[in-house]
Formats: sequence, C-alpha cells, structure tokens
Amino acid sequence: MILVNEARKQFTLQTKGTTYSFCVDNEGLLRHLYWGKKIEHAEDLECESLNEVSTNDPVNEITMEEFPVYGGLLYKQHCLKMKFENGDRGLYYKYDGYTVEDNKLTIHLKDKYHPIAIDLVYLCHEEYDLVERNSVIHNQGDKKVTVEQLQSAQLHIPKTDLTFSNVHGYWGAEQKKFEQQVSYGKILIECRRGISTHHHNPYFILHDQANEDQGDVFFGALRMSGNFRGVIEQTQYGETLVQMGLNSHDFEASLEAGASIESPVLIIGYSGSGFAKMSHDLHRFARETIMKSDEKMVLYNSWEATEFKVNCEDQIELAKKAAELGAELFVLDDGWFGERDGINNGLGDWYVNDEKFPNGLNPLIDAVKGEGMKFGIWVEPEMVNPLSQLYKDHPEWIYHFDEVVSDTSRGQYVLNITLPEVKYYILTMFKELLEKHDISYIKWDANRPISQSSNNKQIWHDHILAVYDIVEKVKSQYPDVIFEACASGGGRIDYGALTYFDDFWTSDNTDAYDRLTIQNSYSYIYPIKAMRAWVTDSPNFLSKREIPIRFRFHSAMMGTLGIGSHILKISAEEEVVYKEMIQEYKDIRHIVQEGDFYRLEPVTSNKYHAFQYNYVDESLLYVFLPQTYIGHEGARVKLKGLDAQARYEIVVCGEKSIKSGAYLMNYGVKFKLVGDYASEIIKLKKTK
Ligand code: GLA
Repeated sequence: MILVNEARKQFTLQTKGTTYSFCVDNEGLLRHLYWGKKIEHAEDLECESLNEVSTNDPVNEITMEEFPVYGGLLYKQHCLKMKFENGDRGLYYKYDGYTVEDNKLTIHLKDKYHPIAIDLVYLCHEEYDLVERNSVIHNQGDKKVTVEQLQSAQLHIPKTDLTFSNVHGYWGAEQKKFEQQVSYGKILIECRRGISTHHHNPYFILHDQANEDQGDVFFGALRMSGNFRGVIEQTQYGETLVQMGLNSHDFEASLEAGASIESPVLIIGYSGSGFAKMSHDLHRFARETIMKSDEKMVLYNSWEATEFKVNCEDQIELAKKAAELGAELFVLDDGWFGERDGINNGLGDWYVNDEKFPNGLNPLIDAVKGEGMKFGIWVEPEMVNPLSQLYKDHPEWIYHFDEVVSDTSRGQYVLNITLPEVKYYILTMFKELLEKHDISYIKWDANRPISQSSNNKQIWHDHILAVYDIVEKVKSQYPDVIFEACASGGGRIDYGALTYFDDFWTSDNTDAYDRLTIQNSYSYIYPIKAMRAWVTDSPNFLSKREIPIRFRFHSAMMGTLGIGSHILKISAEEEVVYKEMIQEYKDIRHIVQEGDFYRLEPVTSNKYHAFQYNYVDESLLYVFLPQTYIGHEGARVKLKGLDAQARYEIVVCGEKSIKSGAYLMNYGVKFKLVGDYASEIIKLKKTK
C-alpha cells in the first residue's frame, strides 16, 4: 500500500511486514526516513530539521537522501552524474510533485539550472514484502546532455557494523558464498565484462548477526545482467548505505533532446527473521510474478556425452534412450551448425551442418517427437568465430576500434548486436530455426566478455538491452518456447536474465558434491525452479571424482532435473536406477519447484547436509553425507515451516511413522546414513 501525506510531503510504502518511508525535507531534499520492520503509524516518523555537524559536514552531506546527485558541495556517493554541452557539471534538484498509479509511486524531481527531470519510481509488492526501485532521467531541453553515472537507488540501513554477503567464483566454481564485515571504507562489487560475470553477483545481503531464522537482513537484487556496480558504505553518521545500478566504469550515455534513460530496477526487501524469509519472499516473487507457471520438464542434454561430435544418427540413439529413461525434452547442444567442429569455427553460421545432419534437423526432431519428447537446441547468438562465413561477409559487425585488432577469446568475437542489421540477422536466424523446426527450448549461451567495445560507451548497457529485446521479440512470436540462460555455465544468473529467460544453467561444474555448495549459495536469492541441475557421468569430467549414482541424482533433484551423462554407456543396473529416480523426481517435482526451500542445520558431529521443501501439505527432506566423519554417527534435524498442530506421515529410510508438526520442528527427524556419498530423500505428508 502506498500512503501519501501531502501536508507533510511524506511517502510511505507499507508491505505486509515492512515499512519504507521518505519525505521532502525543509531543504527541499528527498530525505529517507525509515526502512525496516513495519510501523503501522508512519506519521510517527519525524522529518526533523538537520543542523550541520561542522562546515566540513554540511546539511546536504549528512542528509540521508533517496537519490543523491553529483554537484556543489556534495562529495558523498552519488546516484547521478551529468555533464552539459556548455561544460557545466553537477545537478541541483527540487521536488516537483508525485503520481500514484495502483502500486506504483513516482516522485518527480527537476534540476534548478538545466532542463533535466528525474523520476524516482517505487513499486510496492505488498504480498511479497518487497519494493522495486529505479530512476528515469529525461532530457527536456533542446541540447544533447551526457549521463556519466546512473544508479537505480540509494538505500539507507539504520545500523553499522553489518555483515555483507555475496558470492564470488569463476568458471566451474560459481556461487561461492562469502561474508565480509562492513566497516569504514567502501565495499565494491561489479562486473566490467559486458556479458556477464562469474565473479560477483548483482545483489547484496547485509545482516546483523542473522541466521536462517533470526536477525535483521536487508537485501536487494538488480534486475539487470552485465555491467553493474554495487557500493556498500558505512558512513560517518551512524548508518550503512547501499547503491546499485549501472557500472560507471567506462560508461557514458548521450541523451539527445527529448530522450530519456532508465536505470535497472532494484528489488529490495527486509526480513526481521533471518535468511529463510528473505529467500522465500524472493523465490515466491520470482515464481509468481516473473516466471511461467508450468512445471519444468526433465531434460536430456547431449553436451557432456558427445561435445562437438554430434550427428543425426548418434543423437537419435541418445534421444531414444533418453525417452526410455523418462526424459521429456531432448536438447542438442553445440556443434550442429556451420563448419563447427570445435571452439574455433562456425559461430555465426546458423545453417545446419549437412555432413552431420544430411537431411537437416527434422529427422532428429521427428525421432525426438516420435518418442514423446520435446526438442531443444543450443545457440550462441551474440558471437562469431573469425573462421566463419558471417565474419568473412561482415567483419565490421564485431565490436572493434578502427585501428586495433580485436581480441579473440574462446576463439570468438562478440557481435555488436545493438546495430540494427546485426539484430535483424539474429532475429532472422531465430525465425528460420523456429519456423522450419518444431523447437520448444533454446539454450542461449554466451562464452566470452566484450572487448574493444567501440567508441560508444553506452554499449555495455545497450548490449544487454539488445539481448533482452531479441528474446522478447522471439517470445512474442513463439510464446511457448522456453529460453535457458547460459554464459559459460552460471555466468548470467541474475534477475535481469530471469525476467526474459526461463531457466538458468547453474554451472558447467556438474560434480554432484560441488553442486551442493553451488546450489546452496544460489538458493539464497534465486528460485529453485530456475536452477537447472544435471546428472552426469562418474568420474566427473571436471573434478575426476567418482560419486555413486543415487547421490548424483539426489543432488540434481534439488533443482530442475536434467540428465547429461552418456546414457548409451550406462549399465543395465544403472538404467534401472535412472528410470526409478526420474520417475521419483516427476512425483515430487511440484514440491521442489513450487515449494518453500529451507537450508537446515543437522545436529551432529558428522558432516551431513540437509535441505527441506514445503509445498501445501507435503514436505521433502533431502539429506546428504558426502564423506562420513564418524562412520556410524547419525543426525537429528529440526524441520521448519510445518503446521505445529497437524500430524505428518513420514518415511525415513523405509520406516513409516506419524509425528506432530511440533515434534518434527522442535525435536526433529532422526536419521543415519552410512558410508561415503550416502543420501536420501525423506518424504512427509500431512495426515487428515
Ligand atoms: C558452454 C556451456 C556448456 C556448453 C558449451 C558448448 O561452456 O556452459 O554447457 O553448452 O558452452 O560449447
């Protein structure tokens, strides 16, 4: 709910459990008042006059502004920096009214000296305890202006000595969670690569000694891929501020007369009861307002089995086996097009390779469909290999500087997809693919960053907008086609991508044990329903680790299940397990994909991992013992989110019993796994 107190010029966003409030103060600045646990009477929040601390700390500098701009005596971290044709720099805004439309509040600001209007947009998602913020800059004059820095929002957290948390990593080792004490000085997370990054993720978590169930957690996630920047700063004045938005490193946007630029949207939230509520709010918001409602299919992807060595016959063999095992979607990965036989050639030439597929893709697609499965295909539309017809025809289509040889990476260049002719080429490629073939799933990959980014510094951001635009245009014509976002594994996992894509390829690291860590970290911010996880061969291609089949399945069944192993080489006994486990996944996937996810802490000195899913009257408890520490030691784990009064039927390692929700949450479930790589899915159902 949006509350406006016109007399006090106070604006308040009330969600179920939180309050976010700000006002126009006596200096005309948009001053933040409060963000946190709900305060029913928002008028209790005072907007008292501020006095300078000293001439070194004037009022403007100490005011908790909603959107500080660069100019005058303002040295603090700013959200907007502009320059004008006459050489002026700096902005001086004044409040210029507001508009409210349903759950959307827009605050209008105007610069005092230049024809610049700033709109601050607040979307109140009452049910999810979330708010979305962004900013839009309008050039209302008749001369070109330049935006040098644009952030989505500034946030103020009324606490110091918080702990900051994000993930770091690299290819094959994404989503490694880290925590860092916030103190005086700034923490910076960013992406400078244009495409994506495995290094940091565009979100922040700031907490005050919180755990899964207790403590203050302030969080935000940017709805944008590519070059982002996040700054966390503990100020001199007793608070912690956060800014997120476009990375100003090598950024500049020109606004012609009458033009506007919009910052990415930042989704923000507060949980007074730890990380689980944060995850639940974000996951539900994603599932219910961003993602498609359909169940995710069990897919087979042939990449790890055949890599670039694809051909029609072998793929048909794989497809038949995949269908027999229970897969519902067959995805042909890299290698099917142009002269592609490795990383160095073919990208950009999206015609079917007629040596590998002499009669085109349709014989394979017909076979896949004949087995009752849907068909999916891999593409990397943003890229071109120097060894390709496309590059021969259009060397000018890649990002480049006139006098510089562009760098290759993975043997490829990045296409300047912001050029209308390049965009048209890609859209035509999709049209041909989708019109001539019955394709239900597109795996969109992006395996290198942008370099030699042209003389337009806005390209970093515009490139991503062009990706979104292409996906949106294709989807508007083919609404049932599902898009998977992959960028060298898990390099493009963010809420921007999720707005357009349906699935995330979480990581090329398919080692079932490593995946427990990757998936655990992923789950803090991103919905389980978008987390693709495959069962692959043992030993794993990357870790060389050998892991038993059931553990590999259980780990992949934590997300949306896929199979990536060479299924023509598995034994007859393994085949039985594949069939059983795929069927089991189909029986429980509504709980996994639609349920609330809990990260649990088993009571034990052994090294168990435990996760829980709750959906309506059903729950799942996944337990893993990758390596036993004291071989015979079991564990007890307290479940969460059950109905204390209700009774639940529970099956632990084949033993059925009936227990109350209160017992299961306060005493817990006892279990014992033996041996290394032991795992189990324990099922619970409310009894009548
Ligand atoms: C990337 C992806 C893989 C696979 C290969 C194909 O590395 O992450 O899943 O699609 O490209 O070249």
